[in-house]
Amino acid sequence: MAEVIIMPTRAEAGALVADEIARGIRANPEFVLGLATGSTPLPVYEALRASLDGVDVSQVRGFALDEYVGLDPAHPESYRSVITREVVEPLGLDPARVRVPDGSLARIAHAGELYDAAILDAGGVDLQILGIGTDGHIGFNEPGSSFASRTRVKTLTAQTRDDNARFFASPAEVPMHCITQGLGTILEARHLVLLAFGAGKAAALAAAVEGPVTASVPGSAIQLHPHVTVIVDEEAASEL
Ligand code: GLP
Repeated sequence: MAEVIIMPTRAEAGALVADEIARGIRANPEFVLGLATGSTPLPVYEALRASLDGVDVSQVRGFALDEYVGLDPAHPESYRSVITREVVEPLGLDPARVRVPDGSLARIAHAGELYDAAILDAGGVDLQILGIGTDGHIGFNEPGSSFASRTRVKTLTAQTRDDNARFFASPAEVPMHCITQGLGTILEARHLVLLAFGAGKAAALAAAVEGPVTASVPGSAIQLHPHVTVIVDEEAASEL
């Protein structure tokens, strides 16, 4: 089973992951960091400001898990904007070395293939940060996603659009489609770090970590990976 670490606060959980990432970057300046969006990884990004102080990050590469399709990249809630605002700018990463899947309609036909090729070209992801959706999704791999899937376009479920409506002016503004790293893509990262905070994630977390390995719970794919760390607070751990 995955190593499960229960931390008293989100800030302490974030600091733990940030220290692990900083260690990785010190050992390998070309470290490849797998980035996640949503509210869950924010304490990690916050803590990284201190953990990376004085560390050379000029060669670090980053790959985000997913992006909305058809949303203007300049929209404040596009994952390109979120990653720029929360990660690239505050940590001083080289924007040219941090990629987010290309959700523009004009290039969507080949965007998945190109993204997987870029990850491969960078030597693969060293540490992938993951959150989990209340329906068990990781990245935007909704229930039913194949464990062998690669980066591709998916339709968001009603529940995910509902969950993410808080980031938009109205629920109708939440895009219908996304482009997400596949479960197969995510499983190729060398270390998976799954974070979950709050009682609302308890059921999805328990299903992913301890339930049957099934496409109905995409997060359960982590059980197939040899190096997984699950970092949670008491509330998210309450159904383990
Ligand atoms: C979002 C993202 C996921 C994220 C999840 C949980 O829709 N695509 O990568 O892990 O849903 O979001 P949050 O961390 O805000 O609860």
